[in-house]
Amino acid sequence: MKTKKRQARIGGKRYISSSPEETRKIGVEVAQSLFIPAVVLLYGDLGSGKTTLTRGIAEGLGLEDLSLVSSPSYTLVNVYQARCPIYHVDLYRLEGERDLYSTGIDDFVGREGVTVIEWSERLAGGFAGATVIRIVDAGGDRRELNIIPPGETR
Ligand SMILES: Nc1ncnc2c1ncn2[C@@H]1O[C@H](COP(=O)(O)OP(=O)(O)OP(=O)(O)O)[C@@H](O)[C@H]1O
Ligand SMILES: [Mg+2]
Repeated sequence: MKTKKRQARIGGKRYISSSPEETRKIGVEVAQSLFIPAVVLLYGDLGSGKTTLTRGIAEGLGLEDLSLVSSPSYTLVNVYQARCPIYHVDLYRLEGERDLYSTGIDDFVGREGVTVIEWSERLAGGFAGATVIRIVDAGGDRRELNIIPPGETR
């Protein structure tokens, strides 16, 4: 029983990326695995590649102009129209830990399209039913991504 519990906690799949292009391709795969409406919670330090991964997710959802995808640091959310709306949220500037409802993004999160949230660390309690992705800078251009599909224990 103990082993089972530990496996459940580790959960998900581990990917290694060696370049921004590879991270983008992983994003395309993530997009293909989503059931819409979907929420993707990204965790990872400054410059770990959250926006790069989001660009791949947007590509996988059919967005043509990928230059539109940039961190919405001052606006909290950018919306891109692809095959479905993509809500690209960045919570970096939120102070302290907040719950979803106090951010104002609960209007769309999990209701329609795909919501990708950078700096999910700021979100107290996360969001049930989300895909969770943790990115760790492994030195140089290497990044480790741990991707946990909805429903798997974190
Ligand atoms: N394997 C890789 N995957 C992703 N980005 C990489 C990789 N190797 C190097 N980089 C570089 O790391 C940076 C990642 O930037 P990006 O804006 O995607 O990070 P971020 O996590 O969104 O940062 P922030 O917290 O500031 O929003 C880019 O400059 C990119 O070129
Ligand atoms: Mg970013």
